[in-house]
Amino acid sequence: MLRQAIMKRGLATAAAPATHVPKMKTFKIYRWSPDTPEVKPKMQEFQVDLNDCGPMVLDALIKIKDEQDGSLTFRRSCREGICGSCAMNIGGTNTLACLCKIDKNESKTTKIYPLPHMHIVKDLVPDLTQFYKQYKSIQPYLQRKTFPKGKEIYQSVEDRKKLDGLYECILCACCSTSCPSYWWNAEEYLGPAVLMQAYRWMVDSRDESFGKRKEMLQNSMSVYRCHTILNCTRTCPKGLNPGKAIAEIKKALAVD
Ligand code: SF4
Ligand code: SF4
Ligand code: FES
Repeated sequence: MLRQAIMKRGLATAAAPATHVPKMKTFKIYRWSPDTPEVKPKMQEFQVDLNDCGPMVLDALIKIKDEQDGSLTFRRSCREGICGSCAMNIGGTNTLACLCKIDKNESKTTKIYPLPHMHIVKDLVPDLTQFYKQYKSIQPYLQRKTFPKGKEIYQSVEDRKKLDGLYECILCACCSTSCPSYWWNAEEYLGPAVLMQAYRWMVDSRDESFGKRKEMLQNSMSVYRCHTILNCTRTCPKGLNPGKAIAEIKKALAVD
C-alpha cells in the first residue's frame, strides 16, 4: 500500500504541468562603440527572465552577454565586491553590479550607465587612466629610511586600528565619479578615493613620510576642491567614509 502510494505520488509529480511563469524584466543599457564613432551613444533594451537569472545586476549583464548580445562590454572579475572592476551607475547610483540586487518589480525598467563624467572606452567601461595616474601620484606604498633586517616592522594594535575603514577601499572609483568637484576638476583635484588612500598612508604608524605627504597635498587644488557635499560617502558600496578622511587631511594641513 505504502509503496503504491509513493509510486502514485511520484507519478503525480512527474505529470504535473510546469508552473514556469516568465518574470520578464527590462534593462536599458548604455551602448557606445569606438568602432563606430560616428554612431551616437544610445540606450538599448534587453529583456531577462528573472526565473532563470541570478539575483544581482551583474548576473543579468552576464546573461545578456551570453545569450543575447556578445558585444555588450563591461568589466568584472571577482563577483563578490573585492576587485572593484564592475563599478557602474545602476538606477541612478554608482555601485558595484555584483553587489547590487536586481529590483524584482517587473514594471520598473533598470537603467544602467557607465560611471558618470568619464571618457568611455566602450559601453559600460570607463577610462580610468587619470584615476590611476592620480593614485600613483600619492605614492601609495610604505616609505621609511630604514627597514629592520629580517624583522617585521612592529605596529601596535591601537595603531593598526587607525587603518580600519581606510584599507578596505577597493579603488572602484564609485565615490570619485559621484563627486561634483571631481567632475569639474578631475585634472587637478585628486577626488575622494585617492585622497582616502593618501590619508591611509599618512596615518600608518610604520610610514615616515608624513611631512612629505602633507606637502604634496598643500595646494589649492589637490584637496581643497572638496566642499563636503558628501556624495562620496553616500555612494560607497563598501560603506566607507572618504568624506571623513578628507576632513582629517584638511585638519592635518591646517596645522603647519
Ligand atoms: S565630500 Fe568632497 S570628495 Fe566627497 S563628494 Fe563632496 S566634494 Fe566630493
Ligand atoms: S572609498 Fe568606497 S567608493 Fe571610493 S573607491 Fe574606495 S571602495 Fe570605492
Ligand atoms: S566583480 Fe569584482 S567588485 Fe564586482
